[in-house]
Amino acid sequence: MSRKQILELLRSEEGFLSGQELSRRLGLSRAAVWKAVESLRKEGYEIEARTGLGYRLAAAPDVLTEAEIRSRLGPTETVGRTLCCLEQVDSTNNFAKQLAQQGAPDGTAVLAESQTAGRGRMDRSFQSPRGEGIYLSVLLRPQVTPERLPPVTALAGVAVCAAVERVCGVRPGLKWPNDPVLNGKKLCGILTEVSLEAETGRLQSLVLGIGVNVLQRAESFSPEVREVATSLLQALGRPVSRPLLAAALLEELDRMNRDLRAGDLSEWLAAYRRDCVNLGRTVQLIPFGGGERETAEAVDIDGEFSLVVRLPDGGVKKVRSGEVSVRGLYGYTE
Ligand code: BTN
Repeated sequence: MSRKQILELLRSEEGFLSGQELSRRLGLSRAAVWKAVESLRKEGYEIEARTGLGYRLAAAPDVLTEAEIRSRLGPTETVGRTLCCLEQVDSTNNFAKQLAQQGAPDGTAVLAESQTAGRGRMDRSFQSPRGEGIYLSVLLRPQVTPERLPPVTALAGVAVCAAVERVCGVRPGLKWPNDPVLNGKKLCGILTEVSLEAETGRLQSLVLGIGVNVLQRAESFSPEVREVATSLLQALGRPVSRPLLAAALLEELDRMNRDLRAGDLSEWLAAYRRDCVNLGRTVQLIPFGGGERETAEAVDIDGEFSLVVRLPDGGVKKVRSGEVSVRGLYGYTE
């Protein structure tokens, strides 16, 4: 406890705080202050000590702890009010689903430094090396029937783009239906899982899982993934603070949850249309169940976030996210 309080005091002070002042404000002995400072240093905090001046927080570690995220998180209505930060877990989505069963509230967020069995769509695995990405799952409890549930994964794609833009000054694009991309490569994966009540078919909860590649170098990815994936470090050529980006992401998801509850998604659809890198381009439509690939021109995103394409014979059709995967003519997006 004293560690947390000392960290908060040091964070709120631009310059040095004397050991005497720290012990006075917290009602602790000087020895207890020193012990807490040592323990913070072991956690990776750089705390400068100067004779006659006291202590100063010089740098904080790049970790996804509650203290690091909260110190950067503004007020939110639902998302991130309950935060569960783990060192390691099989999958943050699994953990969030367990919390859902135990009655955790709307907006509960689970973050982990690493996942041992991170999951992607179509039963693929999601590589989750320790300390390099943001592995986040948010539990939502939308008050709608499953048929009326908007495409939360697509909205989350927009939330990721907005958070990255705020923190890095560069806005990723979205490869339909929901992959944030930079330089034509995948920056983030999103997996949404819903749980329904067996008897009534009522929507009980939804877990939105987001994995953002932040500090990975090429070697962090397996050779196959390396072909299509990138990280912010690779794309921007500089490291990005994971706790800062995690906080921005929680704020954007909070905004998304508010609009989802209010049933007003007009802004999200407009942003999606602006971000979608496929629009106006030729795409290959690859059916999930196998079968012939089709080439078409992506012309619009409709009100349900389906992709509207024009076929070579001039016919226009809509494709939904569960039906096909989309590639560019030559590569992942182009
Ligand atoms: C995909 O691109 O196929 C989706 C990948 C989703 C990965 C995230 S990481 C956090 C959450 N926990 C998981 O096991 N998966 C999601």
